[in-house]
Amino acid sequence: MKIVIIGAGGRLGAALSRAYREKFDLTGFNHAELDLSRPHQIRERVGNLDFDIAINAAAYTNVDRCETEKDQAFAINAEAPRLLAEICREKGAKLIHISTDYVFDGHKNQPYSEEDAADPISAYGESKRAGEKFVLQTSDRHLVVRVSWVFGPDRPSFIDAMIKRAREEEQIEAIADKWSTPTYTEDIAEMLPAFFPWHRLSADVPRIIGKMPTPPILHFANAGSCSWQEYAQHALDCCRAAGVPLKAKTVGGSVLAGMKNWVARRPVYSVLSTAKYQALTGIKPRPWREAVADYIERSYSKK
Ligand SMILES: NC(=O)c1ccc[n+]([C@@H]2O[C@H](COP(=O)([O-])OP(=O)(O)OC[C@H]3O[C@@H](n4cnc5c(N)ncnc54)[C@H](OP(=O)(O)O)[C@@H]3O)[C@@H](O)[C@H]2O)c1
Repeated sequence: MKIVIIGAGGRLGAALSRAYREKFDLTGFNHAELDLSRPHQIRERVGNLDFDIAINAAAYTNVDRCETEKDQAFAINAEAPRLLAEICREKGAKLIHISTDYVFDGHKNQPYSEEDAADPISAYGESKRAGEKFVLQTSDRHLVVRVSWVFGPDRPSFIDAMIKRAREEEQIEAIADKWSTPTYTEDIAEMLPAFFPWHRLSADVPRIIGKMPTPPILHFANAGSCSWQEYAQHALDCCRAAGVPLKAKTVGGSVLAGMKNWVARRPVYSVLSTAKYQALTGIKPRPWREAVADYIERSYSKK
């Protein structure tokens, strides 16, 4: 199976590239190799390739900068996925497009299902939602996968920033009134192949087959939910268990309203329900606490 990963230098894209390099015939494009704000490059570099699946893990992910650079945000997060979706359709290939919990407004207090109305409250969320719509309109063989609070070894995220601060300072804080679910890049890499067009391969290749959702949109996150404060506290606890020396032992709580330097609004609650994923694959994602413990054990112990 021939796979193209767009955004292969990012946190998720690099993890996917690592996980699939041995198993598939893989071509990866990082930002320097393919600039999604240049449609002619997309046509020339992706359009001229022969492949079965393209995974778009590239995005303009700086939520605050999207507010002041809306044109750029829409070019990368909406127009580029539209073109990728068209190129894939013309080739008979499938596009798996990665999206975000930030397409929701955060007013719910129960996990968001795929059927809930997306109503973004930031330019980032709007641009990502526009990209989803373009992909979904182009072909019902494509798939939009929404994930939340992504962490992993290939690029630092919130959890790494918290650990760094806890190594340097005795008192640290994280937001206590914003909730979602941390999601490990390794777990996303493990789940996506369930939705690959395996029928193109011989039947003796071992695999998990997930039925395609209708409409083709799917939520994936580790199980459970937490605030950023709980997330950071668990990370510190795992570090201690793994023998990582820290100055801070506990994480104090701060409030979202106190983040005066944030330009964009963020959803207060953006937990994604994975009920559909579980129904389609028969698999329950592992709890976020377990995934974080695994990450810290692998990435921080003996460092
Ligand atoms: N991180 C999260 O918590 C989170 C949560 C929900 C959903 N998501 C979604 O998950 C996906 C992967 O995000 P991530 O966490 O891996 O973020 P990331 O590390 O920021 O990866 C995004 C990648 O896109 C690349 N990129 C940016 N502008 C580009 C352009 N014009 N052309 C080509 N590539 C470009 C970036 O390259 P440079 O760094 O070189 O610019 C980066 O490698 C995205 O769709 C994101 O919306 C992420």
